[in-house]
Amino acid sequence: MSIKSVILAAGKGTRMKSETSKVLHEILGKPLLGYVLDNVKNITDENFVIVGHCAQEVTGFVNKNYPNSKTILQTPQLGTGHAVSMACPDLEDFDGQVIILCGDTPLIKEETLKKFIDYHNSKNSDLTVMSAIFENPANYGRIIREDNGALKCIVEEKDATPEQKAVKEVNAGIYCLNWSKIKPAFSQLTSNNAQGEYYLTDIIEWGKKKSLKVNAYIMEDNREIFGINSRLNLAQAAKIMNERKLNELMINGVTIVDPDSTWISEDTEIGTDTTIFPFTYIEGKNKIGKHCNIGPCAHLRGGVEVEDYIKIGNFVEVKKSKISSHTNVGHLSYIGDSELGSRVNIGAGTITANYDPISKKKSKTVLKDDVKIGSNSVLVAPVEVEEGANVGAGGIITKNIPAWSLAVTRSPLKVLTDWVKKKLG
Ligand code: UD1
Ligand code: CA
Repeated sequence: MSIKSVILAAGKGTRMKSETSKVLHEILGKPLLGYVLDNVKNITDENFVIVGHCAQEVTGFVNKNYPNSKTILQTPQLGTGHAVSMACPDLEDFDGQVIILCGDTPLIKEETLKKFIDYHNSKNSDLTVMSAIFENPANYGRIIREDNGALKCIVEEKDATPEQKAVKEVNAGIYCLNWSKIKPAFSQLTSNNAQGEYYLTDIIEWGKKKSLKVNAYIMEDNREIFGINSRLNLAQAAKIMNERKLNELMINGVTIVDPDSTWISEDTEIGTDTTIFPFTYIEGKNKIGKHCNIGPCAHLRGGVEVEDYIKIGNFVEVKKSKISSHTNVGHLSYIGDSELGSRVNIGAGTITANYDPISKKKSKTVLKDDVKIGSNSVLVAPVEVEEGANVGAGGIITKNIPAWSLAVTRSPLKVLTDWVKKKLG
């Protein structure tokens, strides 16, 4: 069956105190909304992202990175129910399932969403809401059940009685709908509530009145629905995400010497027997092979693909580069927009000068197999050093170097005998 998603991302995110949309704030190089879209990508065939605040930027991000997703403008923002209703014209003739999520909840896992949808199907449900248990349920909508345990309705905290506020089961803000059955609800919601908003949560009572099957699925790990409302939450979510990733890597045979000082993005693959040394920061999408040593204090900025037996050492920054096996970039270097062959050795302090600030263009550096670059060299891109060539220490390489030759750009060493003695008189 076709599954589509509606992702709510129009809200202002006032507590972020930001000029940027909340859902574009990043964790390890990826916006929050990107996490949500990635988590549904193997489940849905199309996604509708409801945008409002900073709509242009959010639309730009979605169009550039998620071709099967479309943004829909919601202005003004009259509540979560109103937000979903914005997608109704696009879903006019749709007869599959719609899952609804929030753009500021990046920790939800694909496997949890799959279990949720399986539950929905196994119950023959028309509408299922995901719920979670919190010791301190403040700020969430509360799940209200009948005496027999069946789902009755959701009450927002601002509308709740003291007894309802004591309920610890909350609305996670994730829903699965058999679209053609629930669709009519969106033209019938009202805003008679404490916030004067069209509440999405009211579709539960609507469904019950229509004798549809409504259920709540209690999810296991409530950290997955942790929503980001402030910079504090952003940092907390990043910690949770990182810990999850490091644990997964260690379970799969990667050594992380110091998990407390290591950051690795969700989209980084690392092979077995690779060791990540302390204070390493790896963001964006990367692929690292087996038996590599990364760090201490290395920074991989995304688009980095390295084969096996690579060393990326102390204070080395690498961006958008490919490195073949048995190559060493040991110390204090910048490698950007580059391709390094096998058995290349990069001396300490080598820089690929990839950016021309006049043309504002970035260019490529290509170092073929067995190239050796002396310490403190600058490779001024675009430039290629052919197989086996050597560059002497301090080389400023502005043109291509042929295979197996030596390039030296430094002025010859002069020694002035007794120069100091003479000066001192
Ligand atoms: C909502 C739920 C609450 C649930 C909680 C889970 C409702 C009425 N309440 O409350 O039961 O426990 O989420 O996190 O649905 N948005 C729009 N357009 C709007 C309003 C909101 O796109 O007009 C977006 C926001 O950007 C946000 C999401 O919808 O991503 C949730 O909105 P928010 O106002 O944060 O709802 P809560 O009060 O948290
Ligand atoms: Ca919220």
